[in-house]
Amino acid sequence: MEIIKTIARLRQVRARFAQVGLVPTMGYLHAGHLSLVRLARDACDTVAVSIFVNPTQFGPHEDLDRYPRNLERDFQLLQAQGVDLVFVPDVAEIYPDGYGTYVEVQGVTEMLEGAARPGHFRGVATVVCKLFNIIQPTHAYFGQKDAQQTVVVRKMVRDLDLPIEIVIGPTVREADGLALSSRNAYLAPDERVAATVLYRALMSARARYEAGSRDAEELRAAMQAVLSAEPLARVEYVSAAHPLTLQELDQLDTDGALLSMAVRIGRTRLIDNIILCDRQVIRDEYSSGQ
Ligand code: PAJ
Repeated sequence: MEIIKTIARLRQVRARFAQVGLVPTMGYLHAGHLSLVRLARDACDTVAVSIFVNPTQFGPHEDLDRYPRNLERDFQLLQAQGVDLVFVPDVAEIYPDGYGTYVEVQGVTEMLEGAARPGHFRGVATVVCKLFNIIQPTHAYFGQKDAQQTVVVRKMVRDLDLPIEIVIGPTVREADGLALSSRNAYLAPDERVAATVLYRALMSARARYEAGSRDAEELRAAMQAVLSAEPLARVEYVSAAHPLTLQELDQLDTDGALLSMAVRIGRTRLIDNIILCDRQVIRDEYSSGQ
C-alpha cells in the first residue's frame, strides 16, 4: 500500500494502472467506509482511498477544527483491506494560495442539507471533482448514508461528462440501528442511547408505508412524533421527498420516497435516511442493498 501526499506523485503512480476504484473519505474510518472499500476491491483491479478533511464543505461555525482524526489507525485498516493507494494531501496541496474555482451543482443542492448547511455541497462538489481529476478513477464509491451527496455527485458527473461509474453502497448500521458516522465519536453515553431515535423514526414511517400509507405528510408526521418523544433530540428537518429530484412530496407514486432527517443530539448533528420504493429499479439505482 503506497501512501501519497502530493498530486505529482499520485499522477506518476496512477499511470501504472488501467482501472482504479476510488473511495473518497474524510478519514476516522469505520465499517461504513470499509464496506465501500470492499465494494471497490471486488470490482476494480486497483483501489485508491483519499483521506482529506475538506475545509470548503464546512460552514464557519461547524466542526472542522474538532473533526476526529486518526491517520495511523486509518492506514492500518486500509492496509488490512488490501488497498493499493492512499491519497492524503495537505490542505495547501488541494487549495493552494490564490485558489478560486468552485463547482456548483444547481437544483438538488438547495433543499435538505443544502438549506441547513449553505455552501456545503459547493465544497463537496469542488473537492470530489478535484479528486476525480487528480486520481482519474474509473469507478467511485459513495454511501447511501449521505443520500443527497449521492444525488449531487451523480448530477455533477452527468452534467460535466465525467467518465466515471458512480456506485452507491448501502448504509452500514450498529446493531441498534444507528448509522455509523465519524461524528458518533462526539456522543456522550446518554446521547449515544438517544441517537437511536433517528432509525426508530425511519422505521415508524416505513411501517406506515408497509401498511399502505402513500401520504407523505403522514410519513413526515410519523417520524416527527417519534423524534419529539426523545428529550435529547432537536429536529432540524424531516423530509419525505422524491428520491431523484429531492422535492417534498404530497403523495408517493411508484418512484417511492427518500425519507431523511437531520437531528441534533446535544451538540452533535446526525443525519439518516431510507428509501421506500416498490420498484426494484429505483432501489438498485439509488440505494443498493437496503
Ligand atoms: P465521509 O463522511 O468520511 O464519508 C466517506 C464516504 O463514506 C461517503 O460516501 C459516505 O456516504 C460513506 N459513509 C459514511 N457513513 C457510512 C455508513 N454508515 N454506511 C455506508 N457508507 C457510509 O462524505 C464524505 O466523507 C465527504 O463529503 C467526501 C465525499 C469525502 C468529500 O469530502
